[in-house]
Amino acid sequence: MEKRQLGKDGDHVSVIGFGAWPIGGAMGVVDEGAAISTVHAVLDHGITLIDTAQSYRVSEAIIGKALKDGRRNQVFLATKVSRDYSPDAIRRAMENSLRALQTDHVDLYQIHGWNPQYPVDDSMEMMERLRQEGKTRYIGVSNFNVEQMELAAQTASFHSLQPRYSLLDREIETETLPYCEAHGIGILPYSPLAKGLLTGKYTPDHQFPADDERSGMTRFQGEEFRRNLATANKLQSIAQERNLTLIQLAIGWQLRLQGITCVLVGAKTPEQVAEHVGGQGWQLTDTELQAIETVLAEG
Ligand SMILES: NC(=O)c1ccc[n+]([C@@H]2O[C@H](COP(=O)([O-])OP(=O)(O)OC[C@H]3O[C@@H](n4cnc5c(N)ncnc54)[C@H](OP(=O)(O)O)[C@@H]3O)[C@@H](O)[C@H]2O)c1
Repeated sequence: MEKRQLGKDGDHVSVIGFGAWPIGGAMGVVDEGAAISTVHAVLDHGITLIDTAQSYRVSEAIIGKALKDGRRNQVFLATKVSRDYSPDAIRRAMENSLRALQTDHVDLYQIHGWNPQYPVDDSMEMMERLRQEGKTRYIGVSNFNVEQMELAAQTASFHSLQPRYSLLDREIETETLPYCEAHGIGILPYSPLAKGLLTGKYTPDHQFPADDERSGMTRFQGEEFRRNLATANKLQSIAQERNLTLIQLAIGWQLRLQGITCVLVGAKTPEQVAEHVGGQGWQLTDTELQAIETVLAEG
């Protein structure tokens, strides 16, 4: 498993990370035993970074159960404080996360999103205090734009940004990516499979159950769903010519950029994790990259 350094001077982490949102149950219920086996498969495959959050339902508790019995030190554990970024709430959220994760510190503590209700300097001051106390080793932010990162950096330095990024979601390429590269901020892209659109496994008549967040997302309905699946099918042909699956192409395509530290991929089963590992260890040629651009331009 390839590794890259987090930010300018952080740890080296695996280029594929385990996104623990699906095992929390918001993309359909996952049996606890299957979820724990999935976390164990992550470690067995040499994936060292696990990403979860305060708001991921039972995700932190499952990870805590999966990592007790000596596995905690094999993992670079990242979690987030969600929604309320007042200093007291951040401290409380950290204590709750540590309890659920059954550990005395996390490796990366991230502010989940921008909320103008809470002055970012107060939030970052608390994040820095928690770092100095040893509750987290590094600080990160998520869903921040350049202006918001600049404001946050005035109070405390941070090692990473977690933005949405996939073949179907390229908004960060114009400003955010270059800014992070110029400032040595590691990028942990989320939803690299566009929440399953880039797996090739759905047909336009697929119905997501009501307890799956995708049942309420427009890109998984009607004409937009059909268009996304058509693009995915064309990308799948490019992957097949290279003996890759679409999922592996979608992961490896991100790693063409050195500014990407670790691609966070969600999974519900050990088999899904095993497939992700094939998303690293190779590089797309210029011709393949051009073919991908052509498909996306048509999309
Ligand atoms: N910071 C944020 O605001 C934010 C937001 C979203 C996500 N994230 C993080 O990023 C991680 C990844 O994003 P995500 O989980 O939203 O979406 P994702 O990684 O783009 O897609 C995950 C979904 O893809 C399907 N899948 C994955 N591997 C597969 C395989 N090998 N074969 C077939 N299907 C496969 C599964 O769909 P099925 O359920 O249909 O099996 C799975 O639920 C999250 O888990 C979380 O850690 C962060």
